[in-house]
Formats: sequence, structure tokens, C-alpha cells
Amino acid sequence: MMKNIETLKKENMNLADKIYIFDTTLRDGEQTPGVALTVDEKIQIAQKLNNLGVDKIEVGFPASSKGEIESSKKIHSLDLDSTLVGLARSLERDIDAVIDSNLDYVHTFIGTSPLHRDYKLNMSKEKIVETAVSAVEYAKDHGLTVEFSAEDATRTERDFLFEVFNNVVDAGADFLDVPDTVGILTPVITHELISDIKDNFTTPISVHFHNDFGLATANSLSAVECGANQVHVTVNGLGERTGNCSLEEFVMALKSAYGIDLGLDTTRFYSLSNLVGRLTGVKMPVNKPIVGDNAFAHESGIHVHGILNNANTYEPMSPEMVGHSRRIVLGKHTGANALKAKLKDFHIDLNENQFDKVFDEIKALGDSGKCVTDDDLVAIAITELSSARETPIVIKGLSISIGANVSPTATVKLEIDGIEKETASTGVGPIDASINAIRFLIKDTIEIQLDEYNLEGITGGTDALAEVFVITSDLQNNKATGRSTNQDVVMASILAILDSINKLLLIRRAN
Ligand code: KIV
Ligand code: ZN
Repeated sequence: MMKNIETLKKENMNLADKIYIFDTTLRDGEQTPGVALTVDEKIQIAQKLNNLGVDKIEVGFPASSKGEIESSKKIHSLDLDSTLVGLARSLERDIDAVIDSNLDYVHTFIGTSPLHRDYKLNMSKEKIVETAVSAVEYAKDHGLTVEFSAEDATRTERDFLFEVFNNVVDAGADFLDVPDTVGILTPVITHELISDIKDNFTTPISVHFHNDFGLATANSLSAVECGANQVHVTVNGLGERTGNCSLEEFVMALKSAYGIDLGLDTTRFYSLSNLVGRLTGVKMPVNKPIVGDNAFAHESGIHVHGILNNANTYEPMSPEMVGHSRRIVLGKHTGANALKAKLKDFHIDLNENQFDKVFDEIKALGDSGKCVTDDDLVAIAITELSSARETPIVIKGLSISIGANVSPTATVKLEIDGIEKETASTGVGPIDASINAIRFLIKDTIEIQLDEYNLEGITGGTDALAEVFVITSDLQNNKATGRSTNQDVVMASILAILDSINKLLLIRRAN
């Protein structure tokens, strides 16, 4: 049962009145190995993030390159509603680069954990505090809003973390950020840590969680549950190594679990994900929550049946909420309801007998490991619709010659639209030779490509029945399946290929 924010507060969930979304796709997201965005690409993404309604956009790390300063300036000149942020180490020159980029919000950081102190910075605790404080004071003196990050906070001694935070708060820090730099938190540990910080500091708390164990979204939710005021996120969960908390996952989980609407236009998530995927070259896996191809795809008969009656049966939110769409996939788990719905979508009417045949064909395709595309379905159904199955091409003769040190040769005789033709061709094996001969004989009628060839022995023994299943396509990309069972593997193959070629011809003649 979903609870609203007031109920949750009454139940002692320490939710902040306002939860800020700080998007770092253009900074941490760009640190994804192999990703580099041009100035124009950064501008495109910043505009979309702004239209989505994120509170803050970390536009880059200005001290790291001239291009970063240029893109930050250009994004600033767009006069977006989102607050723009620049990253800076706790160094005056880095903060100057943020100022030179026309930004007035700096996210400054320094490593605080023993590992960072000893192996990266080679600084004592005192020096870390002094450096952090000077940076915050310098930025405040230059009129900037300052968010301070204690890098690797989650592996920092608690008393030292608090010492650093206390000192930067005194120096004027406006936000305290808690980076889980190598993603080691769990929701329960996050709860303890953030509750402790909230109990000891009144400055707004931000979290920046990495996803090394796949927990960044869960940990960010946990942080918000005990009062975190801001969450760092990236589109598609991009970022260093395995990435950061995913923007779309966090926002939708918060909405689904607690009914908390952060006011973002979530219907833009899917198109934004695609844009970022295209520009960064990091494509999402099909099972990526919210924006993956399968996020609203259904195949199994039981699920599709439920979905067709009421989509809530197997969907936690509607695809429209995130600008995605529902997809019924046909395959080995398909049920009759799914097929009926699909055929209806394509306005294809089949009688019971034709429907059964199409259904069997789809199941068989699924069993052979294939997922049936919409094009496959249309091809199969149209073929079935031409009930008086003409067979424009009929096999009239086949002889094979094979032997040691000779190329396998197939002599094939076909009747094509009533005219007999014969030829002999060689190949790497008898099936290949036969296909070459068929291709030659039909070349004036149709040019085909063999997209899939599957051979299975149905029974055992040397006289086993062979079942061949093929998919062929023509130059117009029409596709057709073909199937045949025979005791002779070569014959089964030829008949399956001719079956599919005849279907292709029927599809072409029907168009
Ligand atoms: O992961 C991290 O610690 C960072 C810092 C720069 C905040 O990205
Ligand atoms: Zn990070």
C-alpha cells in the first residue's frame, strides 16, 4: 500500500521537505570509461535535463580542460532554470576555473579516507582539514554557493569525517556531500550513516553514491528515507566504473514506493535515456530498469493474459509515465491471447485453422531459439492467409555427387512458374552446393539471402528424421520461414529453403 509523505513523517521517517536532484551526467557520467562529449553534445543534454526539471546540473570539471570551460560557459549562456554547478578540487586554481566558466555554484572535494590521505594526497589529517577549509573560504569569498564533498566519505573514520564537516560548515559550506566513492554501502549501513550525520549537522546533506554492487539507487533511497536533502544522479546510471545512482530509477522508485513526486517531467525519461545512450555510445542493456527495451515487454502467456486484462497485473508503473511503450513479444512462451492481440494490432483476421497454424509456427520458431519479430509474424500470417497455397517453385529432381578430392556437386531441377530448369553447382558441402544451384536457377525470379539455418535430428540412428528450419529474406527485406522434415538431410534442407522462397514470392505477389 503506497503511503504519502505526511503518513511517512508520522511514522518517523525523517523525510526532508525538499529533495533536490543534482544531476552529474555531464561530469561523473562523462567519466564513464570511453566516454567524451563534445561541447554541442553537452549543450543538448543540459537542455534536456533542464526541460525535465532537475534542480542542479553539474556541467563539468572546468579546471580539467579548455573545452570544459567553453561548454560550461555556453551552457550558462542558455539561461536555464536548473542551477549550474562546476566541480573543483580543493584548490584555488580549480575554483578560479569554475568562476571563469561563469558558474556561481562550486562542488569542491578532497579525499578524507586513510587510503586517500596516505596513497593519493600524502597529507595529514590536519592538512586535509586546512586545505578543505581554505577552499571553502576562498569560494565563499568569491560569492559562490559551495557544496563540499568528503571524497571516499564512506571509508573515512566517522570522527574525522565529522571533524572535516564541522570545519567546512564553519567556513560557510552550503551543502555537505557524502560520496560513496567505491560503492560499498548497503541500505542499512546508509541508514545508520546518514541518520548520524543528520543528527549532528543542520547543513543540508547530499549523497553521491556509486553502483559497484548494484546498490546505488537502493542506498540513495535509504539516505532520503532518513533525511538526505539531495541526491546526485546520472542519466542511465552512467559514471565512473559501474556508474552512479540512476536518475530515472531513483525518481520512479521514490514515486512508486512513497508517492513522492519531485516535480520532474518523467515522460521525458525514455527519450533522454536514448539521447544520452546515442551521444555517449553506452547502450543500455535490455533489462535496464525504467528505460531498457524490456522494461515493459511481455512474452509469457500468463503475463500477457494478465497485461491484456489489466496492465497493473505485471507492471509496477505505466510505460507512458516514463515515455516508454509496452511491447508484447512473441516466442516460445507466447500464449494464444498474445497472438490474438498482435494480429489485431496488424488488422490480420485468421480463421481458427489458420490461427492454429500460425500459433504452431511461432512456438516452433521460439523452440528453435528465435524471438519472433513483428515482421516475422506478418510474413507467417500473410503466408497462411493465402490459403490455396500456390507453390511457384517445385523441386523436380536432385542428384548429389561427393567423394574424396572432388568438390561436392549438386544437380538440381526446378519447375519455376511451370517452366523446368536444371543446373549443377559446386559448394563446400552437398547442402551448400544445392543452395548455390537453387540460387542460380531462381536468380531471374528472386534473389534471396539465407538468414538462419537450423538442423535438428528428431529421432536417433542413421535413418533419423532431420528437421530443417530456415529463414530467408529478399532484397526488399521481406522475410519468410521455411520448414521441412525428411530422412535425407540435403533433401530436408532444400525443401525447407524452397518452402520459404515460395512464401517470399507469395508475400511479394500479395503486396
Ligand atoms: O565519487 C566521488 O567521490 C566523486 C567526487 C568528485 C565527489 O565523484
Ligand atoms: Zn563520483
